[in-house]
Amino acid sequence: MSTLAIAANGLRKSYGDKVVLDGIDLAVPEGTIFSLLGPNGAGKTTTVQILSTLISADGGQARVAGHDLATDAQAVRAAIGVTGQFSAVDGLITGEENMLLMADLHHLSKAEGRRVTGELLERFDLVEAAKKPASTYSGGMKRRLDIAMTLVGSPRIIFLDEPTTGLDPRSRHTMWGIIRELVTGGVTVFLTTQYLEEADQLADRIAVLNNGKIAAEGTAEELKRLIPGGHVRLRFTDPAAYRSAAATLRGASRDDEALALQIPSDGTQRELLSILDWLDSAGIEADELTVHTPDLDDVFFALTDSGSVPQQSSRPNPSKETLR
Ligand SMILES: Nc1ncnc2c1ncn2[C@@H]1O[C@H](COP(=O)(O)OP(=O)(O)OP(=O)(O)O)[C@@H](O)[C@H]1O
Ligand SMILES: [Mg+2]
Repeated sequence: MSTLAIAANGLRKSYGDKVVLDGIDLAVPEGTIFSLLGPNGAGKTTTVQILSTLISADGGQARVAGHDLATDAQAVRAAIGVTGQFSAVDGLITGEENMLLMADLHHLSKAEGRRVTGELLERFDLVEAAKKPASTYSGGMKRRLDIAMTLVGSPRIIFLDEPTTGLDPRSRHTMWGIIRELVTGGVTVFLTTQYLEEADQLADRIAVLNNGKIAAEGTAEELKRLIPGGHVRLRFTDPAAYRSAAATLRGASRDDEALALQIPSDGTQRELLSILDWLDSAGIEADELTVHTPDLDDVFFALTDSGSVPQQSSRPNPSKETLR
């Protein structure tokens, strides 16, 4: 077993009579990325706040970086960095001044503070903007500055609460690169996100928080396996061909608007082969055939109660493999 950067047992937290965390367990190995998912109000930020000593839990225990949260909060604070859901950047001063302020808070010497600031501004592509007031930065630049500020104290464990919310796709990918790089350097990342693809791309392990409990936990692949619902989708351009195929394939679900049929399938080669054989012998020739495996969105909808249990969604998903 590798060492755990974060180990929590039975964490509980209520606000008034609203139970936010109803006994959650977490185990995050050092040097990995862990992602906490959940609908709005599920308690993700609350979890981050507890683990980073900003608020205290009502019950349960947790060790972060080997230190007990309840008895050694000071040591926990020395080992972690937190980038909150809402930016900690001060807009009235420049990016560089924000960084130097952080260096001061971490009791770095003037020279060391300048060195670290210079290095991080460079790494986060903020050198050009360094002398401008942070209020003039774009959302993506502010986010980068936010994380750069978190790194000033060289934390071993970083909490990122929705680090890419509001970023455009390119900035999001840049941020993913930064996060991956941190982990390569041995840092542990605890990440919350609303973008399931982000968790899929980045996280070694994922937990889904719902109704105060961890509804499921595992690798992205393990979570996807919990959900039935792979299917083969046949799309037609000719309405007549579509209607005749729909009449033949009575088990398939229909999407009359898109002229598409969906056949349940586990996505294995054997099953695909038999579906193709079957279509062939029935004289059905679709214009496009795509194989869909469940993705994390399906998992999320199935495990959280803000959405309904997934029927096959007809969401277009360009990342899915096109066979023909
Ligand atoms: N200081 C507080 N006082 C009262 N209730 C609070 C407080 N902080 C959080 N809550 C409540 O706790 C619940 C969980 O909030 P939390 O911010 O942890 O959710 P979240 O999962 O981070 O949501 P989001 O995705 O919207 O960021 C919500 O119902 C929220 O209203
Ligand atoms: Mg939140």
